[in-house]
Amino acid sequence: RTDTTTFEMEGACPFGGDSVGGTFGSTPTLASWYPQRLRVELLHANGLAADPLGPDFDYAAAFATIDLAELKADITTLLTTSVPWWPADYGNYGPQMIRMAWHSAGTYRIADGRGGAGTGMQRFAPVSSWWDNGNTDKSRRLLQPIKHKYGSALSWADLMVLTGNCALELMGFPTYGFGGGRLDAWEADDASYWGPEVWDAANVTSFDSMVTRDERWRGQNGDADYDLQDPLAASHQALIYVNPEGPYANGDPLGSARDIRITFSRMAMNDEETVALIAGGHAFGKSHGAVPADEIGPPPEIAPMEAMGLGWHNPRGAGNAENTMTNGIEGSWTPDPTRWDNSYLENLFAYDYQQTKSPAGALQWTPTDPAGPRTPDAHVPGRTHALMMMTSDIALKVDPAYRAVCEKFLADFDTFTLAFSKAWYKLTHRDMGPKHRYLGPEVTIEDGLLWQDPLPEADHAPIDAADVEELKRAVLATGVPVTDLVFTAFSAAVPYRDSDKRGGANGGRLALAPQKDWAVNRRTVPVIEALRGVKAAFDAAAAGGKRVSLADLVVLAGCVAVEQAARAAGVETTVPFTPGRVDTTQELTDLEMFEWLRPLADGFRNFADGALPAVAAAVSPEAMFLDKANLLTLTAPEWTALTGGLRVLGANHDSSVHGVWTDRVGVLTTDFFVGLTDTDLEWSATDASGTTFVGRVRETGEERFTGTRNDLVFGSNPQLRSIADVYAARDGQTRFVADFVRAWDKVMMLDRFDVKGHKRYG
Ligand code: HEM
Repeated sequence: RTDTTTFEMEGACPFGGDSVGGTFGSTPTLASWYPQRLRVELLHANGLAADPLGPDFDYAAAFATIDLAELKADITTLLTTSVPWWPADYGNYGPQMIRMAWHSAGTYRIADGRGGAGTGMQRFAPVSSWWDNGNTDKSRRLLQPIKHKYGSALSWADLMVLTGNCALELMGFPTYGFGGGRLDAWEADDASYWGPEVWDAANVTSFDSMVTRDERWRGQNGDADYDLQDPLAASHQALIYVNPEGPYANGDPLGSARDIRITFSRMAMNDEETVALIAGGHAFGKSHGAVPADEIGPPPEIAPMEAMGLGWHNPRGAGNAENTMTNGIEGSWTPDPTRWDNSYLENLFAYDYQQTKSPAGALQWTPTDPAGPRTPDAHVPGRTHALMMMTSDIALKVDPAYRAVCEKFLADFDTFTLAFSKAWYKLTHRDMGPKHRYLGPEVTIEDGLLWQDPLPEADHAPIDAADVEELKRAVLATGVPVTDLVFTAFSAAVPYRDSDKRGGANGGRLALAPQKDWAVNRRTVPVIEALRGVKAAFDAAAAGGKRVSLADLVVLAGCVAVEQAARAAGVETTVPFTPGRVDTTQELTDLEMFEWLRPLADGFRNFADGALPAVAAAVSPEAMFLDKANLLTLTAPEWTALTGGLRVLGANHDSSVHGVWTDRVGVLTTDFFVGLTDTDLEWSATDASGTTFVGRVRETGEERFTGTRNDLVFGSNPQLRSIADVYAARDGQTRFVADFVRAWDKVMMLDRFDVKGHKRYG
């Protein structure tokens, strides 16, 4: 092993002292000294400065220049052109590319929408260097000629998924379609939470060496072993899903089935989809375990420089072909690993299996019948092997519910094929958001895909500028206070998360279950009723079948309220409003999948769920607030301006006065920031856990304000306080209103992929 992070000088140091000190970014860093500090700077990660394509690059336009058929033909040729530095198993790179694509998508988790294939994160640590991603570095490097040929018109993220599709098609599997449009990230993600375990990245040499499961499984609901911490969706650190050798590598298929069900459902897959994916995927290729794991070199992120970004150096022979060592298990599931057929399930059920060990020492299974079918060696002509199953494969046979699905698929190959096809499409497109984001000629146009949170096409003429003015007047005439209008519009938009592009104001789902029933939204119910009245009157009077969607009206009502509030503060402003939202239906809303968007806490509306104290023991409310700001793609100034504005606009979920440090509620003043930075006030906690506070006048002890951690964090955190100072200053008012309006519009437009195109910025 060579660890290039320790670069040792030879001889005496010419710069004096015993050695050269650290350079920019050397440890220890802030994170080493103050691991608990709120890392506000994460809001600016993967920003414009990191993107070599620049702010004006239009990926949709670039992608449109590609002839998809030609691109697919190029990929297919590559799949069957074996190169000596990494010879293809069976002369076909298809299986390893399917695994690469599956692993790129398989990090997705429904709880926070993070992970997934959407930004090509498999290129960066930690994902690139997880033990479970062993040798996917080779798969991506093999694709480099294609990437270079198509350049910026083809993102890595799209290329990985498309290659998976080409591989499936090459081996006789009919895919359901392909949508391009994934925009690459340009730096490692240092923020996504992958679990509590700190593992020794350099010395993970097998799944057995990651017996760290307890940390993430320590549950509050009784069954300590099966209560996986939110938002995680993998059973171990550094895995995509579960340990193939069973929990704790214990070879227990039923335990493995429980793990699989928990982890796959966290990725929004039901039992049928789960079986389809595993049984479908393992129809192809093989597992690699020719060499003991402790001979394998470090993963890409910490491999020696001369490895040029590749990792897991294998010293046996040429380090590849018949000596390949990836995961540790050795063998193939089927007699013909490069053809789509039903033999995975046929053989799983036709034979009994017994535990064996691979050459690398991993636990696996082989048929008890020595006369069972054989599968060819991937490289040595004429050599054959017995079939192999993993503990996680046997799980599908022993778990009663999975077994029932297997039996259905065994009896009906076409049903299986369609189920895998649809599940693969969902797997690889799950985090792309609305269909408006899908690019290219192979997008499957079907409205029945509930996981896409469908929005119907508008069946009426859109409202125009004159209508907007008329509707604004009608909204104000309802007498609904500005504070309630602001709260309601913001509540419609704030569930959005950019991680998987779900949950914004378009669709009008605030008025549908489950959102209309969430405690945090209670205040919106009468407002929605009033706005329905405005809509009914407008629709009835409008000529030519014109109608206003409730989704548009809710946002417009918020916009006019903000204009009123700014005017009351002495600043004339027009809040941008872009009509075109549509109202979706209850039937097109997946209750279970939307329930995942229900906030445990929402600092913008000063809301904390009853379950919060337990959660807060592990995660502070302000960290959850930061997380939400990140999911809304806000910068620190946007986050600050928005929160300060919402407070003076009285937008707390329960109309409480926490953070509402003004006697002019509903007026868009900088009073929040003035109160926040008032040195005459002395703050103290009002409860034992330090979640609420009171600010008293130092001299008199008079109680002036109350607030939560979501309020005080803007005064206690130095980065946020510096921004608060800008708004609290004498010249802050005009800037504040402008910044608030910009941030407001940004939030209202976050899900408008129908008008925004595919640019990441702006
Ligand atoms: C290979 C585990 C689900 C597709 C493998 C390997 C392991 C594994 C350990 C061997 C890697 C190597 O050493 O090269 C699992 C587990 C799963 C799962 C534990 C879930 C319980 C899936 C799914 C798919 C898939 C959902 C695709 C839809 C593949 C393919 C290979 C593979 C194509 C062969 C790769 C090659 O030939 O190089 N899997 N897998 N797997 N897996 Fe899975």
